[in-house]
Amino acid sequence: MDVRVDDRLTDRLNIASARKRRYPFDDDVIDWSVPMSSDYVYMPEGSSFLHGTAVWERLSDTERSHVTRWEVTQILRNAGHGEHILNQGILAMLWHTDPYEPAWRFMLHEVAEECQHMAMFNEWVRRNDDMRTWSIARGRRGTGAALLAQLVAPRMPELFWVYVLLFEAVGDLVNDAFVRDRSDRLHPTLRQLMRAHRIEEARHIAFAVRWIENGVPKLSPARRWLLQRATERTLLWLSRLPRLMPVAYSEQLAPYLSKEEFEAAVTDPRYTEHVGRHLQPVAEVLIECGALHPQRIAPGPDGRLIRLAGGVDA
Ligand SMILES: [Fe+2]
Ligand SMILES: [Fe+2]
Repeated sequence: MDVRVDDRLTDRLNIASARKRRYPFDDDVIDWSVPMSSDYVYMPEGSSFLHGTAVWERLSDTERSHVTRWEVTQILRNAGHGEHILNQGILAMLWHTDPYEPAWRFMLHEVAEECQHMAMFNEWVRRNDDMRTWSIARGRRGTGAALLAQLVAPRMPELFWVYVLLFEAVGDLVNDAFVRDRSDRLHPTLRQLMRAHRIEEARHIAFAVRWIENGVPKLSPARRWLLQRATERTLLWLSRLPRLMPVAYSEQLAPYLSKEEFEAAVTDPRYTEHVGRHLQPVAEVLIECGALHPQRIAPGPDGRLIRLAGGVDA
């Protein structure tokens, strides 16, 4: 496989991975001793699927604490599965990469860091084992994505890195909301966990962007067309997802909200639109990298991406 990231950048990222490692079980990175108490909330202001709903207004502080702790545990469980899928793709690429390339080591750093993130998310999930959550690893879609990642990554690496960028863009939105929330009520372990995650993800994003940037001009016109169409379809699909976070109703929520109220909250445009809007800057990066045709996609009136009428092909 031809690595498309120049050695100078990869060497810099290798050094940064070694020196700026945020190991989640180091005491100065995450304090795991803070108790899970109803004094805390577990989702940043404005980020819970219940924020802004009548249900939220109805709940007491203790109930809000319980529901948001369930929500963040559910999200982190599936975020770990997302990292697992990504790792399967990178390891598949590594098999076809020359070990004398600096990128061989960086991809291994990336896998190691994602493994750390998986361990960090899992630590949270196990410390909250009173929360019953649903796993994408049990569904056919999650398993299909894991298989597909291994097939796509070595054959069409530019497309694989586009998927990585999109996954990490949504993850970054979550990380950022936790890091920016200054409230004393937000559980401090979560803020530290998200900060550690964001620092390491910045390297992964830089590597993915450079690979796409350098790789696209070398693609044949047919493969470039395929990449741009696949990117466009995925972006439009993500932008219009009826429900965003992999949250599913749990009977545990029954004392606080009904299944109907849950469905109404997770599919409410107020909740799904902000991610749609967040995809716009990612779309701009993808246009600059050549992975997306500039005249086929644009933000619609609500900020979510739409296909342009009469868009021009690459
Ligand atoms: Fe990660
Ligand atoms: Fe990553």
